[in-house]
Amino acid sequence: EANRDTGAVHAVVVGSGIAGLTVALHAVERGCRVTLVTKDVLDHANTRFAQGGIAGVMFADDRAADHIRDTLVAGAGLSDPEAVRVLVEEGPTRIQELVDIGVVFDRGDDGAYIKGLEAAHSYPRILHAGGDATGTEIEKALVARLRASDVRVIEHAFLVDLLMADANPSDPVEPGLEDAGFDENLRARDARRVSGVELLVGDGPDATGVRETIEADAVVLATGGAGELYAHTTNPPVATGDGIAAALRAGAVVQDLEFFQFHPTILGAGDAFLVSEAVRGEGATLVDEHGRRFAFDAHPDGELAPRDVVARAIAHRMELQDGRPVFLDATHLRPTEAETRAFLAKRFPTIDAAVRARGLDWAREPIPVTPAAHYLMGGVTTDLHGRTSIPGLYAVGEVARTGVHGANRLASNSLLEGAVFGARAGDAIAADAASGIWPTPATPETVPSAVEPGWRRTPSVVGPFSRHALQQLMWEHAGLVRDAAGLRSAASTLDAWSRQDRAPRTEAELEDENLLTVAIALVDAALLRTASVGAHFRSDEHPPTVADALAGTVTIDDVLAA
Ligand code: SIN
Repeated sequence: EANRDTGAVHAVVVGSGIAGLTVALHAVERGCRVTLVTKDVLDHANTRFAQGGIAGVMFADDRAADHIRDTLVAGAGLSDPEAVRVLVEEGPTRIQELVDIGVVFDRGDDGAYIKGLEAAHSYPRILHAGGDATGTEIEKALVARLRASDVRVIEHAFLVDLLMADANPSDPVEPGLEDAGFDENLRARDARRVSGVELLVGDGPDATGVRETIEADAVVLATGGAGELYAHTTNPPVATGDGIAAALRAGAVVQDLEFFQFHPTILGAGDAFLVSEAVRGEGATLVDEHGRRFAFDAHPDGELAPRDVVARAIAHRMELQDGRPVFLDATHLRPTEAETRAFLAKRFPTIDAAVRARGLDWAREPIPVTPAAHYLMGGVTTDLHGRTSIPGLYAVGEVARTGVHGANRLASNSLLEGAVFGARAGDAIAADAASGIWPTPATPETVPSAVEPGWRRTPSVVGPFSRHALQQLMWEHAGLVRDAAGLRSAASTLDAWSRQDRAPRTEAELEDENLLTVAIALVDAALLRTASVGAHFRSDEHPPTVADALAGTVTIDDVLAA
């Protein structure tokens, strides 16, 4: 009720996937004035492409402790256990909230939710809607709810930058500290708070549009991921890392960018199209071009091993067959071809349509698949309420690094994260702003991969910068498998590109600059982490040393154990 007094608090939410929509709805319910801006139309976010579903402890014989353990194991020990506990324990409430606003999760003939299984889950706890259209169904329901709320919506509004102000005007930032080292920079910037956003409002990526500013008490980054960093991705073209780049420019702590998840199975014919892990959850197998199953060579759980393991096993197999795709075999899922065809069409209608559109019949023959960039585990560091290291700035969803995913996200935990932490941030904003004293900014306990500005590079002569060239570079040198030589060469090229003269004016050009900013930070982080863990695989890794422990990339226990 106290929050009802805070009607004047104005929050700007940037982004319209599950996380942004949830924040906006929760904040407006708490009496905030909310403006939601999105660079495309409202429902054009990555959320609507989520196929597999949403994970949650929704069945009597499942246990929160098991979902927590599965998440921690998939995260390769680098998740924040408290964030994972929050995610799992609050998950069912948020899933029920989605049901209450009209999301219809699929039920079986007995009326109970159908249980879906995906890799690295010890229990089939994944709910799906419309077969394989879970994200679309969730986005639709949230958008309808938002349209009926008091949230003001501005579409085709691209985030150019965050506006900053002195947190306490009587205590200005000490001149000179801005150019000091990392710690001093953070301290100097802690005295700043976010005060709004600068937008480019236009009608398409190539338009120069109109620059507008919106003042706000709080700004929430819900801008999603950065799949456009890579030549092959499951993400839609809007995933250009805009929020992370803006946060980096503002001096926010950003973490774990070296952990980029590659999805194992993208249709290897026509435009990139995700083939959900749920297909393997239903029993589909992976075979090489000779028809041999190979996933068990890499892990005892075979096709249902953690995603990073399966993606690397496929990449390795492709290398052995001169880059040609491997195959996903779903032909045996039902006793006859006709029954399999009917099952696939009902259970996976979206994928089925995409497969057919490419002239393939997956009930009759295995389909070609390859890995592609899918999800960024790292991002803007937050506490358990979405607060970043900059007062007034929040981050939720894929742009955020809440700590739940560690080095590798467990399947179907991303929609859940957006719902759980979106609600928490939305609930926190009103109280935070009304208190007049911004809570102590989140400071990571350990920052093994916190991005350190100023990584030294050797400038080199390179061709002109373009998104295409960046994507090829990142795929080659900062993809599924990395090594120091490749990363250093990428860092050098990125550095040279960052020094070239450009004057970005259109949305697409500003996106390109954002991708370059995020790429530089990602490659820096990947160079700093010399040991392989989760999705970050270094082919040149060496046993952890005392030097690594001093650099903070491993613990001293790791060194002693090696
Ligand atoms: C999938 O359906 O395989 C993707 C789900 C996810 O990324 O969690």
